Amino acid sequence: MTLQDGLQLQIKPDPQAVAEAVAELLLGALQRGAVLGLATGRTMQPVYGALCARINALPDAQRAAVLAGWRSFNLDEYVGLGPHHPQSFAACMNQALAVPLGLSPGQLQLPDGLAVDSAAEAGRYSRLVAAAGGIDLQLLGLGSNGHIGFNEPPCPPDAPCRCLQLSPATRQQNASAFGGQADAVPEQAITLGTRDILAARSVLLVVTGAAKAAILRCSLQDPPCPEVPASWLQNHPRLQVIVDAAAASALQLR
Ligand code: GLP
Repeated sequence: MTLQDGLQLQIKPDPQAVAEAVAELLLGALQRGAVLGLATGRTMQPVYGALCARINALPDAQRAAVLAGWRSFNLDEYVGLGPHHPQSFAACMNQALAVPLGLSPGQLQLPDGLAVDSAAEAGRYSRLVAAAGGIDLQLLGLGSNGHIGFNEPPCPPDAPCRCLQLSPATRQQNASAFGGQADAVPEQAITLGTRDILAARSVLLVVTGAAKAAILRCSLQDPPCPEVPASWLQNHPRLQVIVDAAAASALQLR
């Protein structure tokens, strides 16, 4: 088993070192005027902390330029949760980025979890991304069942932006944000599809922790298959992967 040609893999000692490396790449992309695709989850919390610190340390004019040019689209949102619900991804993004950086509401776009018609909302969101010219740099975490965004297995490589049912494994994975109660995690979400993710001009997969070591190895080193949605990333021509040593521990490296 080998890693695909062209894949750039960086292995850092710990999650904070991962966060610093990812924040540096995100800042560079923002300074080039990139449209960002953003993710939520525990993996991204130190990343966004490091990004805020870097932006706030810039000279005033550079900082103002980065903030004025900011355009980002999040991968997903829970159906039924709006920005005023603390566990919504919209609230997470407000707390992690919008408030500390002083971004205006429309700069950080997410699917509307409160839309009356979730299927129509998925279509609207997909068109919004397209109207912005698509995503230049897509940041991704990895679900413990191999999902990216909320593309649950099995999932083909060309799944569109849509509303879907979350798997029991994912509701369990995300239960910690809901008082440890998997039943309290919404049953549905709107997510950009694997098609949208693979259409991004470059993709940055970020994975930390020993609990993700086995699924990371499947994602990068087993033949791509619907049972591991992240494995379709192997087909992306510009994939960067930044992981900590614990997450990399099951990779077979030459
Ligand atoms: C969540 C999100 C993903 C996220 C992944 C990993 O369910 N939908 O976008 O990347 O699962 O989450 P965590 O970083 O908390 O492990």
